[in-house]
Amino acid sequence: MESNFVTVEFEALPQNQGFARAVCASYAGQLDPTLEELTEIKTAVSEAVSNAVIHGYERKGTGKIVMELKTMDQDKIFIKITDFGKGIRDVKKAMEPMFSTEEEREMSGMGFTVMESFADKVFVESEPGRGTAVTLIKYLDVYHGI
Ligand SMILES: Nc1ncnc2c1ncn2[C@@H]1O[C@H](COP(=O)(O)OP(=O)(O)O)[C@@H](O)[C@H]1O
Ligand SMILES: [Mg+2]
Repeated sequence: MESNFVTVEFEALPQNQGFARAVCASYAGQLDPTLEELTEIKTAVSEAVSNAVIHGYERKGTGKIVMELKTMDQDKIFIKITDFGKGIRDVKKAMEPMFSTEEEREMSGMGFTVMESFADKVFVESEPGRGTAVTLIKYLDVYHGI
């Protein structure tokens, strides 16, 4: 299959989390994923986008989020979510289960853990004051149903 890519850019607003999920689900459709795989992709993407909105831009409601989608071979989907916000000082620490810089009860510190369990690979690049890029790679079981 030829390589295919899509890039979307959107404002860091909470309602765009649903938009980002829908874009990914729709895009992933071309690889004929299972419902479970779709749910996993959408959940991982939600966590990355909500982190950009809540932490990257500190809920300010403005700031650019770029989401790049690519298919790789016939069975891999690559999703990179970039913000140009606050950045993360210690990525290793931030990715530990239960670690959160937010006091609020809604934040559990499990976002990166969820991404790591639902995507096959998670890469985080970040620089304080410059922003954060999270790359999720999902391998799809192309032989389902055969
Ligand atoms: N895009 C981001 N920009 C800045 N900080 C981030 C970003 N994503 C994650 N973080 C930091 O990593 C921590 C852990 O993230 P996560 O595992 O999703 O837990 P939670 O969002 O519940 O705090 C956050 O509390 C925050 O400090
Ligand atoms: Mg989070």
